[in-house]
Amino acid sequence: MRKKIVAGNWKMNNNLDETKTLIKQIKKGVKKQIGDDTRVIIAPSFVNLNTAIKRTKKSEIEVAAQNMHQSKNGAYTGEVSADMLTSLGLNLVILGHSERREYFGETNELLAEKVTTALENNLETIFCFGEVLEDRKSENHFKVVDNQLKEGLFHLKKRDFSKIILAYEPVWAIGTGETASPEQVQEMHAFIRTTIANDYGGEVAEKISILYGGSVKPANAKEIFSKPDVDGGLIGGAALKADDFVAIIKSI
Ligand code: 13P
Repeated sequence: MRKKIVAGNWKMNNNLDETKTLIKQIKKGVKKQIGDDTRVIIAPSFVNLNTAIKRTKKSEIEVAAQNMHQSKNGAYTGEVSADMLTSLGLNLVILGHSERREYFGETNELLAEKVTTALENNLETIFCFGEVLEDRKSENHFKVVDNQLKEGLFHLKKRDFSKIILAYEPVWAIGTGETASPEQVQEMHAFIRTTIANDYGGEVAEKISILYGGSVKPANAKEIFSKPDVDGGLIGGAALKADDFVAIIKSI
C-alpha cells in the first residue's frame, strides 16, 4: 500500500519567528490525527531547517529542504550541499521545482545530477515536474512530462526508485488559483504510473507515491485526493496557513 503524503513547500516565506509559530500551530492541528499510512512534510527555507528539525522532533511532522547543490562541496558561493543537509539530521529534499527550473535555469540534465547526489547521500527526493500552459494548450503535456521523467530520473537503478516521491505540478496551476481538474490530475498521474511501469515494471510503479501540486486548497483537496493515482499533495500558498494546511491533511 502506498503512503499518503501531504507536503508543504514554504518557498521563500517565513522568517525565524514565523517558522516557529507556524510549526507550533501545525503540530497542534495534526496531533494524533495522522494515521500510520500518512506522512506530513514541511519544507522551510535553508536557514530555518535546523530550528524546524528540532521543533518537529517529537511530532509526526517530517522536514525537507527545498533544494540542494549537485556537487559534494567546493567554491559554489551561496549553495548548500547534501552533506550539510544530512548533518542536520535531514533525510528529505525537494528537487526540480518549476520555480527552480524557470528562475534558476535548472535543466533536466542538471536535475538528473542532483537526484543522483541526493540518493547517494540517502536523501529521499521529492521530484517535481509539470508542463507550462503552452504545452497543455498545444496538447504536448504528456510528451513534456515523459521527457522530464526520462531525462531527470530514468538513469536511476530500480532499487533507487523507492527513494523517490513524484510531484506533478502543472506550472499553469501553481499560485494561480486555477487548479487542474481532478480528472486532468488523474489522467496525468495514470500516465506517469504507466510510463514508470513500462521502464521499471509494474511493482515499482505501484509503489511510488505521486503527489499533485498547484492551487490545492481545503475546498478542492478531498476530490483531488480521492482519485486512485493521486497519493497526496505538494502544497504552496495554503501550506502557509496552519488552518488550511491542517484541513488539507485531514482531507486525505
Ligand atoms: P500553490 O499551492 O501556491 O499553487 O503552489 C504549489 C507549489 O508550487 C508547491 O510546490
